[in-house]
Amino acid sequence: MAAKHQAPRGTRDLLPDEAARWRVAEAQARGVLERYGYGEIRTPMFEDMELFARTSGESSDVVQKEMYRFKDLGDRELALRPEFTAGVMRAYLEHGLGGRSRVHRLWSMGPVFRYGRPQKGRYRQFSQINCELVGSAAPGADVEMITLFVDLYEAWGFANLTVKVNSLGTPASRRAYGDKLRATLTPHAARLSEDSRRRLEQNPLRVLDTKDEQDLAVLRGLPAGLPKMLDVLDAEDRSHWQDVLAGLTAAGIRHEIDNGLVRGLDYYTRTAFEVHDASLGAQSALGGGGRYDGLIEQLGGPPTPGVGFAIGLDRTLLVMEERGLAAEAGETVCVVAMEATRAGATALVRELRRRFRVEADVESRAFGAQMKAAGKSGARFLVIAGEEEWARGEVALKDSKTGEQKAVRREALVAELAGRSSLQGTSKA
Ligand code: HAM
Repeated sequence: MAAKHQAPRGTRDLLPDEAARWRVAEAQARGVLERYGYGEIRTPMFEDMELFARTSGESSDVVQKEMYRFKDLGDRELALRPEFTAGVMRAYLEHGLGGRSRVHRLWSMGPVFRYGRPQKGRYRQFSQINCELVGSAAPGADVEMITLFVDLYEAWGFANLTVKVNSLGTPASRRAYGDKLRATLTPHAARLSEDSRRRLEQNPLRVLDTKDEQDLAVLRGLPAGLPKMLDVLDAEDRSHWQDVLAGLTAAGIRHEIDNGLVRGLDYYTRTAFEVHDASLGAQSALGGGGRYDGLIEQLGGPPTPGVGFAIGLDRTLLVMEERGLAAEAGETVCVVAMEATRAGATALVRELRRRFRVEADVESRAFGAQMKAAGKSGARFLVIAGEEEWARGEVALKDSKTGEQKAVRREALVAELAGRSSLQGTSKA
């Protein structure tokens, strides 16, 4: 019979095996973030709708089509967070963090919500790891951010990643670029989607963010190519950009310039970056970020520069699973007992569970049925509490992978199992 209820469209359940792979990846990320000296900040999953509408940009997809907005019973206009940055900056201002020390390094992890069209790697509830470095305008801050970004992927086993980078300049240079882009695209407007034609009027940079295949074909087919943002940068932005590129080279970060990289949110200034994976298609980044020097001021705070990124965990785990980088679950010990040893084995099971993942029968099944179940469960080690061995103070330990079996004194069993490194649950990376 089909289940009466299903998870809402665009959401999914992580069952225990998948959740275990997530936990390992999350723990690896926490280790990297800690070693970089970032502190965790946990903000609410919903905020005033206005906060997101103002910061993400009125013409962005996130605000126009993808926000989960609702009114609560007190008639407040709220929205489930479509990203972390706005909430983190709201908290930064609300708690006066800017006044305490100059630079703050903050990370968060958790679910975010966007009402998009679900497809591979695109969900309505998904998880991000988000990092922000607030209070420094120096190119070194951009370099640290991009280095941290790459080091997170490397901790998960990704090798040879190339980060795409671009500079989005200041609002003024972006306007100049927008005018150039509009002039380039207007002769082709008839072939663009309705959405892109509207954006060409309102905010031409957003056209570069399109996911429409026909639009992408028009952009790829421009006779003289896209105009380059880098050509309209002012002297200060250009010098910042050169320093970031030099810093990335010095840090050993593989990067390439992508003139079409504009990011989907409106608050970016200067450096913008993303990583992609071919298996997800060109329009789906694994993660991305950039500098947002005007954002805090826009929220009513003092001029405060910042730079950050978010990594989409769902997409990242998807690629890790496809490439065999995701952690295997730690191996299991299965304890099999006989009628006469069952009571004694319960204490042994409890003792083993202080160290290892242990399965044991709770239904008083016959020995043969337990052995069959152990075989099916895929447990690596079998601890067999046979009557005769038990009377001698021993159990049989079988390695189901090698077929090797030997008698082990009960008091030596924990040490014997601990010596088998495969019980540590390591990542294959
Ligand atoms: P974003 O590029 O909008 O940036 O999202 C970051 C990542 O979230 C994407 O690269 C992607 O991996 C993942 N993502 C986005 N939408 C979906 C979806 N529908 N399903 C699955 N994964 C998705 C931000 O959110 C900025 N707040 C990043 C930032 C922080 N910039 C500065 N600081």
